[in-house]
Amino acid sequence: MYTVGIITASDKGSKGEREDLSGKVIEEMVTEAGYEVVHYVMVPDEIDALYEAMCHMADTLKLNLILTTGGTGFSTRDVTPEATMKAIERETPGISEGIRYNSLKITPKGMLSRGRSGIRGKSLIINMPGSPKAVRESLEYILKPIHHGIQILVGDDSECATPEKPQTQK
Ligand code: MTE
Repeated sequence: MYTVGIITASDKGSKGEREDLSGKVIEEMVTEAGYEVVHYVMVPDEIDALYEAMCHMADTLKLNLILTTGGTGFSTRDVTPEATMKAIERETPGISEGIRYNSLKITPKGMLSRGRSGIRGKSLIINMPGSPKAVRESLEYILKPIHHGIQILVGDDSECATPEKPQTQK
């Protein structure tokens, strides 16, 4: 079973002034998909706090998947992508492009999420937008392909499955 850490970036949430509905959506969806959520934190929208939470989950807890929600927009306090770029060693642009591609099919405002993603050690870190709706829409789209990516990252699967040969008619 692969392990998951959830980081909710929210000034209000970290002070207990707002309930974290988006973190709950992530927990519910990844659990349903067969992952084990072992760590969850709510941190203020600060680069250092977010960076430290990501590094702790990747380096100390060695979690397979670290999902963040919030702080990807245009507000001056939105710094989750900047913290992520500091934490990752190899970027995985296709995942973030996939999230935006899917979001844009739902709302043009999908272009306002600056979310990034990448690999630190053997952990995959992915930024998702902040609203519970956006989290649900994004996770639904990426869950299956990222599971395959994690398998390759941790060495459980070395290659992509070859496509089935077309059936020849006799
Ligand atoms: N993506 C999806 N799938 N659905 C949405 O409703 N909202 C957008 C965008 N991505 C949205 C979405 C909006 S309105 C914003 S401002 C950005 O995500 C950034 O959100 P954040 O600042 O909460 O991270």
